[in-house]
Amino acid sequence: VIDCVGGATTMELYEQLTAQGDKVRSLKTAKADKADVDAAIQLLLKLKVDYKEVTGQDYKAGCPPSGTAVSNDRQSENGGEEDTVDPWNVATNSAKGVDYDKLIVRFGSSKIDQELVDRIEKVSGQKPHRFLRRGIFFSHRDMNQVLDAYEKQKSFYLYTGRGPSSQAMHVGHLIPFVFTKWLQDVFDIPLVIQLTDDEKYLWKDLSLEDCHRFAEENAKDIIACGFDVNKTFIFSDLDYMGSSPEFYRNVVKVQKHVTFNQVKGIFGFSDSDCIGKISFPAIQAAPAFSSSFPQIFKGRKDVQCLIPCAIDQDPYFRMTRDVAPRIGYPKPALLHSTFFPALQGAQTKMSASDANSSIFLTDTPKQIKNKVNKHAFSGGKDTIEEHREQGGNPDIDVAFMYLTFFMEDDEQLEKIRQDYTSGILLTGELKKMLIETLQPMITAHQENRKNVTDEMVKQFMTPRPLNFNF
Ligand code: TRP
Repeated sequence: VIDCVGGATTMELYEQLTAQGDKVRSLKTAKADKADVDAAIQLLLKLKVDYKEVTGQDYKAGCPPSGTAVSNDRQSENGGEEDTVDPWNVATNSAKGVDYDKLIVRFGSSKIDQELVDRIEKVSGQKPHRFLRRGIFFSHRDMNQVLDAYEKQKSFYLYTGRGPSSQAMHVGHLIPFVFTKWLQDVFDIPLVIQLTDDEKYLWKDLSLEDCHRFAEENAKDIIACGFDVNKTFIFSDLDYMGSSPEFYRNVVKVQKHVTFNQVKGIFGFSDSDCIGKISFPAIQAAPAFSSSFPQIFKGRKDVQCLIPCAIDQDPYFRMTRDVAPRIGYPKPALLHSTFFPALQGAQTKMSASDANSSIFLTDTPKQIKNKVNKHAFSGGKDTIEEHREQGGNPDIDVAFMYLTFFMEDDEQLEKIRQDYTSGILLTGELKKMLIETLQPMITAHQENRKNVTDEMVKQFMTPRPLNFNF
């Protein structure tokens, strides 16, 4: 084994990796500080990426590097370790991304199978959104119950949200909103969008005023997705909490029914976390109850809520569903999405704090082109000859993954998958298709956002009745 990276041979890298894996496990066993565990995991992931770069193979515990190809078995790719998925961290060792089927088992949710997709089509009378057709929204809780009720003319409402931690939103942030907009259109129902400026103040090193300002700035990007002002209420926690007695009453009810021990178990809080964090989950729970919005639901407390969100938010809503019956409310139903992978690979999600991992909604066509070409992790082969002969691997290819999110035409996408796998389509050509899909999409978003005035933001964010009779 003679390849070198930064002076280290593959064997040295392999040994470093093995040692780092041991370190992560022992830190976890010792229940070490979360920050220390996270740092160790980050290093582990970085070493794995280096290793793969040098060897062209995934690191496999117990199998030192060799010239022979290793199997792509997921269990061994992960070295037997669990993926990390919580509201603050997403990390896996697998280049294919988080194992979502395992997550369903771990979280105790249900898979969105073909039968449910068909049923959504039947009840809504619309072709299912590509996110449903392609398993991007892949898990749910109680969606059948929502559809049963809807078929009996019982309405429901949508609730989603965003933590406004910066001005900079990236394409991954749009996923839940794009899907929520589709749900709102096909079911014709009210939508509430929570901007948790309070949450970001509690968790990040930001001033209250900055968080509040980010909420209003982010609201513009959300509005630019095309929501109907007559059917949508967007609120900042910092503003709405103080102005709505009904909302605050629900927060307090939740607070009374969840113990410190429970949130410790669910969120991993420790004795040194500020009490704001410890009580925050009650604030994310409250919008799941219709009585938190008397102006919309005329005081009704029994309107069923459906929450589209990324799966990392599930801990909040497991807690919410657990308290709901004890305070006399229906449990919210949920639709969970997968994560939007970072440019560098599906081991983690796109993160606004790492500029090179993200395509921002403010990027120019040129920036998009450069980032995709330079940073998008490729499942292609090193040389054209090899690629033509062996073909690429779309399962780990970020450009292909992004196309599954954004390319509407199923047949075109399937053809790309086949051509890439067979080697007819080269990495550069695949990236070009992605660039040509992203550029007009982002430009259109920027146009839409430019047309969102402060006055419109104010309208969306004013508590008021919506165009529904409850
Ligand atoms: N906590 C979420 C975040 O940091 C924001 C959020 C609040 C949310 N309520 C929600 C997300 C409901 C999805 C659904 O992004």
